[in-house]
Amino acid sequence: MINRDTLMKGLTKGDSRVRKTLDQAYNVDVSGRLLTLLENFGRNFPQETEISILKAPGRVNLIGEHLDYNSLPVLPMAMDYDMLVALSPRSDLEVRAVNPEFEDRAFEIEKKIPPYETGDWGNYIKAGVQGIVDELGGIKGLRGFNACFYGNVPVGAGLSSSSALVVAAAMAAVEAGGVKIEPLVLADRMASAEWYVGTQGGGMDHAASILSEKGKALRVDFFPLRARPVSLPEGYTIVVANSMVVSTKTRESKIRFNWLPTACRAATAMLVKNLGLEAAKIKYLGDIFRQLGMADTLRGLQKTFTQDKYTKPEIAAYLGTTVGELDRRLFTTNAGELVPEPEGGFRVGARARHVISEAIRVEESVKVVEAGDGEALGRRMNGSWISCRDDFEISHPALVDLVEIGRSAGTSGSRLTGAGWGGCTVHLVKDEKVEKVLEALQKKYYGKAIEKYPAAAKLYHEHPEDALLALRPSAGARVLF
Ligand code: GLA
Repeated sequence: MINRDTLMKGLTKGDSRVRKTLDQAYNVDVSGRLLTLLENFGRNFPQETEISILKAPGRVNLIGEHLDYNSLPVLPMAMDYDMLVALSPRSDLEVRAVNPEFEDRAFEIEKKIPPYETGDWGNYIKAGVQGIVDELGGIKGLRGFNACFYGNVPVGAGLSSSSALVVAAAMAAVEAGGVKIEPLVLADRMASAEWYVGTQGGGMDHAASILSEKGKALRVDFFPLRARPVSLPEGYTIVVANSMVVSTKTRESKIRFNWLPTACRAATAMLVKNLGLEAAKIKYLGDIFRQLGMADTLRGLQKTFTQDKYTKPEIAAYLGTTVGELDRRLFTTNAGELVPEPEGGFRVGARARHVISEAIRVEESVKVVEAGDGEALGRRMNGSWISCRDDFEISHPALVDLVEIGRSAGTSGSRLTGAGWGGCTVHLVKDEKVEKVLEALQKKYYGKAIEKYPAAAKLYHEHPEDALLALRPSAGARVLF
């Protein structure tokens, strides 16, 4: 906790203790953003002088797309783009949340916090707070809080702006209540906490946001959650190019996202049946991969999936069950919603092929990165891109444009990052080529190709600062002051 005026003075005068704290957490100067946050807070809650400040970063995934919920490893890194929160505890259980981008929200902390309508930003705050209530097994020890949220992670860009908000809200509840929760426990809890908003994502985003170390990428493994910092090869920069095609996780995109974990679950059940595996030991595609190893898993995929698409009745027949039972067992999200069938059925085999081949690429990537071989990482990123585009079908024409422009300007590797269907591409670029790559992306995509996507072009003209980011890994979520 810190006095608001003292912190404002410290930031303005460049006080050495304030600077040190910020240097440990960021690669860039955030004092301007913090001053704006403090001003917002002062305007909204003028009576509150003693406050806490915390950050929860967004992340960019270097490789390992849609693997987390399949219990396979991923390699993301935290970014200096984050959600900042200024807060002060209240004596009651009310949460008052303001954000310059959205309408104010206020609700009570209770055992089961009822959600706002789908798509409301307040649901992400509720998700984080509910996660803490669930972790503690009730509201005991918690206090309400007044909080000002102020983020700069581009929204709907596949950079986990939503998880940054959920994590920030949870950490605000922890800080206001003065309770203690270990980072690994918090990261694990947050993965399911975000299901509150209706999507069935995995735990990558929260783990990257909470557990990252400055200057390092993070290898994350799941069920149980484990994380290990990984140094990136010297002499490379991570460039993120945002297509500006927004891919939010609400309404139709929620269904589209949920088709993927559903198809992976169906693939798992079909593989178990066809390969005669012990069902009790296998919950995820990752379990099959670990049990059979690479070669046998790949052979198993070929043997099991003989047609491109499977309808629900076909999957039910394959598994010797009914569609009703299947809907209950495999096709209901963790939030209890029934997942409808995509037109023509699920491309179960292609989805599983992506997951397994991507897992192999992640394992290899960690090894080559630790050996300092950036070019070898780049090749895996290129492979990941093809697999995401063709087998997982999470691409978008704008992402194709960005990857092609990046590759022809000399990146070592380029791919989409995040859930897909829009959002961002990530490029591994040799330091000496960064300028050329940025220039090519600027000229050929933002200066030309983007006009093919009118909504993206409009967004770009409104927010050019969200387009091209040259990044170094940031520190994970923490209370700064
Ligand atoms: C979203 C989800 C993550 C992960 C990615 C795809 O960001 O929230 O858990 O599944 O998509 O890798």
